[in-house]
Amino acid sequence: MVVVSSPAKIILFGEHAVVYGTPAIAMAIERRIFVKAETLSEKKLVVLTGRKKVSFPLHILTPEGEFRYVKKAVAISLENTGYSSGIKLEINSEIPRASGLGSSAAVSVAVLKAVHELYDVELSPEELAKLGHRVEREVQGAASPTDTATSALGGVLLIKPGAGIERIELNRDIPLVVGCTGIKRSTGKVVAGVRELRDRHPEIIDGVMECIGRLVLKAKCALESGDLKTLGELMDINQGLLEALGVSNLALARRIYSARKAGALGAKLTGAGAGGCMIALAPEHQEKVKKVLGKNSFITTTARAGTKVESLE
Ligand code: PMV
Repeated sequence: MVVVSSPAKIILFGEHAVVYGTPAIAMAIERRIFVKAETLSEKKLVVLTGRKKVSFPLHILTPEGEFRYVKKAVAISLENTGYSSGIKLEINSEIPRASGLGSSAAVSVAVLKAVHELYDVELSPEELAKLGHRVEREVQGAASPTDTATSALGGVLLIKPGAGIERIELNRDIPLVVGCTGIKRSTGKVVAGVRELRDRHPEIIDGVMECIGRLVLKAKCALESGDLKTLGELMDINQGLLEALGVSNLALARRIYSARKAGALGAKLTGAGAGGCMIALAPEHQEKVKKVLGKNSFITTTARAGTKVESLE
């Protein structure tokens, strides 16, 4: 029996512009998904969550329907380890779903790691990130490596399109309050909306993207030196530029302004926007900020550890 956990992620800076080639910064946060794995004598995959228990034949783990990420992660693990015994997975999650916090990436890498551990097969964090990206690609057709890499590796990462991923060494943990609007949205649709805006006004939108790119490099320096005041200021500027891209909305903007008023050093939407979640940088007044963000908000910080084994028997 093995228990593995993987963290959620947020995008600190650079979402949307990263689609056009500028870097972005992602961070793992202390909200985790826990996967307990055991072998079974029967050749099937049993998945248990707080809500239900579902069983799938091991030889037909099609990446469709409910638990498609779990099924794909198990199929790839069996292929990679060469084992084929039955598996029981018990999943408990602290990560809200479809909110841009990377819950599908977290479950994918947690299942991959748990099954490899179960069979005592080594998997480095880098290999795990690669396999996790493969799970998301094969389930969704296309996927950015950001979520799976952040959940596998933990900490803060600089995503450089076409040039890989680099770890940012933090001077201190980043204290955040996350507020979720509860509005579910499709990242693909929001990204398509930005593309249409750019098609209509390339001479303006390209400038906004470039500006976000420059902001990300400044934010990297502020993270390395632990300068929270500058980070907060850059978050506010980034939010203004995301507003210009048309991806904020009233539910996000209300929370962002309330958080700033309650004492946050800066606040912005995180991820695709148009719903989902926002983040507020709050080294002080955390409870007050959390209160104004209402239900579905939580205080969190950097998860230095990515995917990790919690217990092994
Ligand atoms: O919705 P999320 O949190 O997965 O973030 C999407 C980030 C975008 O930059 C908008 C898209 C992307 O693929 O990077």
